[in-house]
Parts: sequence; C-alpha cells; structure tokens
Amino acid sequence: CQLNDYAKKVGLKYFGAATDSPGQRERAGYEAAYSKYDTILNDPKEFGQTTPTNGMKWLFTEPEPGVFNYTEGEIVATIARNTNKLLRCHALVWHNQLAPWVEANTTVWTPDTLRAAITRHIANVAGHWKGRCYAWDVVNEALDEDGTYRKSLFYKILGEEYIKLAFTVASHVDPDAKLYYNDYGIERPASAKTAGAKRIIKMLKDAGIRIDGVGMQAHLHADSHPTVDEHVQTMKQFSEELGVSEVAFTELDVRIPTPVNDTSLQWQKEAYRNVAAACVQVEACVGITIWDFYDPFSWVPATFPGQGAALLWNEDFSKHPAYDGIIDVFKNM
Ligand code: G3I
Repeated sequence: CQLNDYAKKVGLKYFGAATDSPGQRERAGYEAAYSKYDTILNDPKEFGQTTPTNGMKWLFTEPEPGVFNYTEGEIVATIARNTNKLLRCHALVWHNQLAPWVEANTTVWTPDTLRAAITRHIANVAGHWKGRCYAWDVVNEALDEDGTYRKSLFYKILGEEYIKLAFTVASHVDPDAKLYYNDYGIERPASAKTAGAKRIIKMLKDAGIRIDGVGMQAHLHADSHPTVDEHVQTMKQFSEELGVSEVAFTELDVRIPTPVNDTSLQWQKEAYRNVAAACVQVEACVGITIWDFYDPFSWVPATFPGQGAALLWNEDFSKHPAYDGIIDVFKNM
C-alpha cells in the first residue's frame, strides 16, 4: 500500500503530486532520471491526483491577446487521463506568470477592457478543459501578507470585483469543476491572511457567487510548522463557519536548510504528519497534493538558495522519513 491507497482507505478523495511537463522541469540535466520519475508519478497507488505546476497558467495558455495554446497544460492533463488521476487545474487568475502583454506598460487597461480580457481568458481556458478538471484554482494568491488585497494589476484596475468576476465566469463555463480560492500562508487559524481568505469566501457567498473550496498551498518550513490543531481549526473556519463544501492542501512541501540533518528531517516529518492527520480529521478536507515529489524538481532551491529537500523523494530516489510518517498516520487512523 502506498500514499494514495492509504489516503483513500481513510476517506480522502486522493493523495496527489503536482508535476511539470518534461521540458519545463525545474532542473535541467536530469533527463536520465525521467524513467524512474515517471514510474512513481504514474503509479495510481502512490498518486491519485495531479496538478500541472506551470502549463495552465496565463503565460502559457494565452501568450498573445486572444491566441490560446494548450500544449503545455495538455501534457499534464494527458498524464492524468492516462494514469487515472484526478486533475486539479491551476490557475485562472494570478498576478504572477502572466503573459507579458497583460502586464506590458503599453497596454492601458480600463475596467471594461480588463473585465473583457479576464472573461475571454476564463471562457477559453476553462472551456478547453471543461469536464476534465476535478477543481480549478480560479483565483490564486489575491492576498498580501497582512491580509489586505495584493495590489496586483487586477486589483488596481477592478478592486475586489475581479475576484467576483472570475468566479462568476468560471461557474458558468465549467459547472462541474469545484471552484477554489488558493493561497499560501493560510494554514494557521489566527493569521491575518487566513482572515483575508475568510473575507473572500464571505464576499462571494454574500453575492450569491459559487465558491466550493479553499486551497491551502502549505509551502511550509520544517522548523516552524502548524500543529494538527491549528490546521484543523483553520479548515473548520473555512468549511463549518463559512460554508465552503471542501478544503484541500494543494501545494504541500516542507523546506529545510541544506544540507539536511537527522533533526531537520524529523521536523519535516512532523510537519507532513500534521497535515495528513488534520486532513483526515476534517470532514471537508478532500485531499493532499505535494508540489512535485522529487527534490531536484522542486521550486524551492532556486527561489530560496540554501533551502530545499522539501519533497518526499531524494535525488537518488530514496525516500525522506516523512514518507513513512504520512503512511503511519493513515495506517493508525
Ligand atoms: O520556461 C523555462 C524553461 O524553458 C527552462 O527549461 C526551465 C528550467 O530552468 O525554466 C523555465 O521557467 C521556469 C518555470 O518555473 C518552469 O520550470 C521559471 O523560470 C520559473 O520562474 C518557474 O517557477 C514556477 C513558479 O511557480 C513561478 O512563480 C515554479 O515552477 C512553480 O512550481 C511555481 O508554482 C507556484 C504556484 O503556481 C503558486 N503557488 C506558489 C508556487 C511556488 O512558487
């Protein structure tokens, strides 16, 4: 029995791993590892769900105004289809990895032209994958660290209306996909950002706009991670208090200063175990996705030099202690 097998036994819908299309994988020069990598990725006992880490983003899907390209996203969507995995689709409206034309200083956006661009983007992209996405991250990372709205292009021109617009359009275009608000730093119950996420849910619900889920990305640190109870309380705030029907850990990884040692690996194990234990305890928690599974393909070392080893498989394909930690949690439920 492996991760997804056990997760399903204890009532989750899936344990998954995000992946990138081969040409985009984070560290070049690892082509020799692909066949081992693919064997693990494709194994339905290990992973019952996947998310493309890059290919469905605006930069790839609408590189020029009104010109759509689904090649990169299709690579991972096809892996999902061929290996019987649920597909989480990621992400429709995000301030990062936007196509240059959206951000170019030469484009003078007005509320009307930006509304039209967002609507066209979602209609086409969500329309293309209609019926294949278990869930869509409709709006990603709309909040600043202090819980106020991030002053993105979308926010500057449209205010919070852009969030309502994105969910409204997505709900019409793909009625069967679960619509999520997705962010990092919303794993603790009393954080300002968690309060911000709650405001977003409430705003949408008050306006009668469908939001089905909150995705807690959970890019965690081994040495200061949330407790089981903190995770549980946060998920209950989103689901039981505010009424979203599901929550999920959508981009889980736990970074450690490198080189790692036994102590830091044990902290990491606890961080992963806490997520698994909390998800199992909360009715609304449907699943856990790790943000890739193989350390060399993690985004962490390139973004935070001196940190890494954030996933469950080491460079030589041996597993981190956290792997057995998660399995133990599931076994003992
Ligand atoms: O396109 C080039 C490619 O041609 C080249 O072969 C490759 C290898 O160096 O680099 C490629 O671009 C990189 C791309 O990832 C694909 O690997 C970009 O430089 C790099 O910035 C980009 O990083 C992605 C990051 O989002 C961008 O912000 C990460 O892979 C991706 O894992 C990460 O994912 C985000 C989620 O979408 C939202 N939440 C946070 C999470 C981590 O940042």
